[in-house]
Amino acid sequence: MHIAVLAGDGIGQEIMTEALRALDALGLGDVRYDHADVGGIAYKNHSHPLPGTTLELVKSADAILFGAVGDPDCDNLDAHLRPEQAVLGLRKELELFANLRPAKAFAGLEHISGLKPEIAGAIDLLILRELTGDVYFGEKGQRTNDAGRREGYDIMAYDEDEISRIAHVAFKAAQGRKGRLCSVDKANVLQTSVLWRQVVNEVAADYPDVELSHMYVDNAAMQLVREPGQFDVMLTGNIFGDILSDQASMCVGSIGLLASASLGTGTRGLYEPIHGSAPDIAGQGIANPSAMILSAAMMLRHSFGMEQEALRLEQAVAAVLAQGVLGFDLGGQATTTEIGDAVVAQLAS
Ligand code: IPM
Ligand code: MG
Repeated sequence: MHIAVLAGDGIGQEIMTEALRALDALGLGDVRYDHADVGGIAYKNHSHPLPGTTLELVKSADAILFGAVGDPDCDNLDAHLRPEQAVLGLRKELELFANLRPAKAFAGLEHISGLKPEIAGAIDLLILRELTGDVYFGEKGQRTNDAGRREGYDIMAYDEDEISRIAHVAFKAAQGRKGRLCSVDKANVLQTSVLWRQVVNEVAADYPDVELSHMYVDNAAMQLVREPGQFDVMLTGNIFGDILSDQASMCVGSIGLLASASLGTGTRGLYEPIHGSAPDIAGQGIANPSAMILSAAMMLRHSFGMEQEALRLEQAVAAVLAQGVLGFDLGGQATTTEIGDAVVAQLAS
């Protein structure tokens, strides 16, 4: 198992340390970890957020563990040198078009949600977010319009092949779950969404066992807090999935709890928490490492086929939460290391 470890910026280093300790505690055998810079730290050390050496490493690795990127020191850099470009570049370079963002209530911890416990307790959904298209990667820039005013633009576009390949992933995911797929779009306004809906309907013909529905994104945002238990798999484009997954995390309880897997056609994947570098709390040892540890679990499952070990990690994180070892994000006092210690102790028990 050759794993590229890109801890990145802000709390990335702290939470990565705990994820690696948890992986060690599983006793996986022959694992090679290679560390490399990414994001703001890479810009500082190598003048680029995604240096060639880092790119070479990830291309030779079986899987990538990714912490977070984002550094206020870099706020004034040209767009192509900003830390965020590193994660966007990795997704694009490795063709990691399918982003899996599961959100599930933790049993006994329904009260940590901002929603009513009986509503939060029913959450068990998977956001399947397209990751290499949409306004993120369309033509973009700033220009002066005919009226002499500054204008910013980002083109939203999806071609049918991009839509159908993510739709296939979503239908297959639904088959492995409760068999329900809700495709989220804005087909009442956007032509991109009109095509999205058409193609998803075409792909549906291959999956008669999956119950497909469509929902406008504004309604989806509302339904996610009204009755999140109605969703099984939610298929979304890049920008809608970015927004809805942050929202789903707070429906569960904290953005510090949600993991993600970014996959392409092979088994190589990139695994990262859905939260960012949290510069406001970086270096204080109070970040919740759970999402990072759960991302490592997704890596074991999706890149290495180690379902048992993935479940052990996930159960350990859930058990630690159930014991009341809560980080500051959840109104508790447990530090990053204390949460990591508790997970390791749980794995040893
Ligand atoms: C995410 C993040 C990224 C995104 C940022 C850091 C570019 O918000 O993974 O959700 O927008 O995709
Ligand atoms: Mg996001």
